Amino acid sequence: MEQGFAGKVIVVTGGASGIGAATIALLARDGAQMVSVDRAATTPDGAALALCGDVGDPGTVAAHAAEIDARLGGFDGLVTCAGYSNGKAVPDCPVSEWEAIMRTNLTGTFLWAQAAVAAMRAHRRGGALVMTGSQLAFAGGRANAAYLASKGAVVSLARTMAVDHAPEGIRVNVLVPGAIDTPLLQRAFDRAPDPGAARQRSVSRHPLGRLGRAEEMACAIRFLLSPEASFTTGSCLFADGGWLAG
Ligand SMILES: NC(=O)c1ccc[n+]([C@@H]2O[C@H](COP(=O)([O-])OP(=O)(O)OC[C@H]3O[C@@H](n4cnc5c(N)ncnc54)[C@H](O)[C@@H]3O)[C@@H](O)[C@H]2O)c1
Repeated sequence: MEQGFAGKVIVVTGGASGIGAATIALLARDGAQMVSVDRAATTPDGAALALCGDVGDPGTVAAHAAEIDARLGGFDGLVTCAGYSNGKAVPDCPVSEWEAIMRTNLTGTFLWAQAAVAAMRAHRRGGALVMTGSQLAFAGGRANAAYLASKGAVVSLARTMAVDHAPEGIRVNVLVPGAIDTPLLQRAFDRAPDPGAARQRSVSRHPLGRLGRAEEMACAIRFLLSPEASFTTGSCLFADGGWLAG
């Protein structure tokens, strides 16, 4: 994606909420044609097209990619935000929950990345992929085994794809957020015995002294998709309020 956003088609998974919805709103204002993909049947502000379905289902992803191709002529950018956690350590995590989290967070990222590369190849144009990681995949964290494992794998997936697809002009990077004030984070706080105290503990982990906002993540994603990041691939952008610095 080397000429700005006007007329560019950008697909955002998990577009109905949080970071994905903020990314759609921001890039739509920059002139991009935004596609939201989500299992929730919500059309976020700024979406030119909203598709409802599971990112972990290969048939659904193939059907959605075909619809995007037919209606918008392929796509130039992909942002994978669909994801969730269950707040369980290994002994407490049923294999069904482990597999479901892997299916959304990792397989969903893989399937949409596969669709993006196919579309970019078919239209003989390069593009940019941004996958959403997590600061916890680097820092570690308690009682979220499937989530942390899936996010660590997403980083490795992005790095190998960056190498494989650099020759065809496709860049692949990872956004690494800190704790961002979204419904996902609130659900995580609500699992704690004292959600207010959990929120305060999370705030105190950031040297900047607050939680991040979804709009701030959207700005970091915009950079990674933009021509300004034309020499950036296989990298992680830490937009984490300083969490990983100390
Ligand atoms: N909020 C944070 O503190 C934080 C921190 C680090 C990383 N992240 C990551 O950022 C991404 C976005 O998180 P958010 O905080 O905006 O969450 P969110 O819950 O607000 O939004 C996630 C969206 O993904 C959708 N989704 C989940 N599973 C899906 C599936 N199988 N198929 C289709 N859609 C599905 C949900 O319906 C929801 O709309 C996630 O990958 C999350 O792991 C968030």
